[in-house]
Amino acid sequence: MQRIFITLMAWCYVVVLAIAQDGVHKQSAAADYQWPSEPDVLAKLHQWQDLKFGVLLHWGIYSVPGIVESWSICCEDWIKRDTTRTYEQYRKWYFGLADEFKPVQFDPQQWATVMRQAGMKYMIFTTKHHDGFCMYDSRETDYTIARHAFAGDARSDVLRHVLDAFRAENFMLGTYFSKADWHSQYYWWDVYPNRGRNVNYPIKKYPWRWEQFCQFTYRQIEEIMAGYGPVDILWLDGGWVCAENNQDIHMPEIVSMARRHQPGLIVVDRTIRGPYENYQTPEQTIPHEQLAYPWESCITLSDDWGYVPQPRWKSPSKVIGLLAEVVAKGGNMVLGVGPTPQGRIQPEAVQRLQAIGQWLEKNGKAIYGTTITPLYHDGNIWFTASKDGARRYAICTLSDGESLPATIAWKGNEPAKRVRLLATGKTLKFKRDGEKVVVYLPSGLPAEPVALEIE
Ligand code: GLC
Repeated sequence: MQRIFITLMAWCYVVVLAIAQDGVHKQSAAADYQWPSEPDVLAKLHQWQDLKFGVLLHWGIYSVPGIVESWSICCEDWIKRDTTRTYEQYRKWYFGLADEFKPVQFDPQQWATVMRQAGMKYMIFTTKHHDGFCMYDSRETDYTIARHAFAGDARSDVLRHVLDAFRAENFMLGTYFSKADWHSQYYWWDVYPNRGRNVNYPIKKYPWRWEQFCQFTYRQIEEIMAGYGPVDILWLDGGWVCAENNQDIHMPEIVSMARRHQPGLIVVDRTIRGPYENYQTPEQTIPHEQLAYPWESCITLSDDWGYVPQPRWKSPSKVIGLLAEVVAKGGNMVLGVGPTPQGRIQPEAVQRLQAIGQWLEKNGKAIYGTTITPLYHDGNIWFTASKDGARRYAICTLSDGESLPATIAWKGNEPAKRVRLLATGKTLKFKRDGEKVVVYLPSGLPAEPVALEIE
């Protein structure tokens, strides 16, 4: 009996760890990773792993006032809300933002150009966030951009125009979809109060209602998978909607349907572990060590996923440093960018993204298509390797405000022949000093991370 109890407690703990806390998903445990058995999925996954850098675009009704995506209508302790209104008034206002969301300057071509210039190779777009507002023309609900303030505009089926624009720039394409839907009466039923992110009625008592929700979700995902041309990644958020949490949404059926429409589709059922989490998604963080299975850190360019009026931006050097660390540890990085309510990437973001892209243009060999190497860092110097093993790369990252020193030194990853400055190809002087390799950097380098090629 006691053993059963302990096992049960341990199991609950694992489930709780895996479920989103404070709006941030925790990463699944390494041992739980399951390589896909389908050869076409595996092939696409390897292709994706070579890309290293992508964009995660959050765009929805929350962009209109520039507030946190969806979460302000959820009743959980960590959520702050305007205290001058009742919950019902607030919810009405929030859902009503759909009537103000009229992005007349919507320019997906600008998004795709800026992200290409940033050196990004794949994209993920929010087709539906937890608030249930669809950024595509769903037939399953009226709660879509195509049938509110933006109705009648030639671009009102937003998803189509976003995917087409990025497809034309050769991006790998991903669709974000929230399994939870706080607008659906099959998920948050007005008969019951809303007590948090979960379904708000007892499923055991109302199995029909839950079944309606499962079918609704299946059909919406099918609309996206069947109606918008080739898609490479289905990125499913809302990890608490799962069988372990008594909200079984029949994932095997959803995935086989999705792959019927999109052969080889990478499925990311975040935090759920098992066959449908083809890569893991640590959020706003980088794993402590190198990991030998596919993963992607999702990290925002500012502090927020969506557009906010006064963002606190990360510097280009900071983002490059994060990318170097992620790649050295064997992952990909997807950078969160929120288009404005009018539908453009704002100048402050463009400027930062272009600076990142200019660095990658010169130093991309140290990032794209590389593989991991056992000694992957020494302090702030991160190492990657070419797949043929002939070269290693060292990326020395900087803290904000720091400039490059005259020499950099590391242990291991010794050059047999030479060390070159990747940006110019210039051979650099180096010496051995005890256990360390010491490389002399040319003077006058910009205050940004420096990448070296080690042969
Ligand atoms: C978390 C947040 C969600 C956001 C996502 C992006 O799950 O709760 O709002 O869309 O992260 O990674």
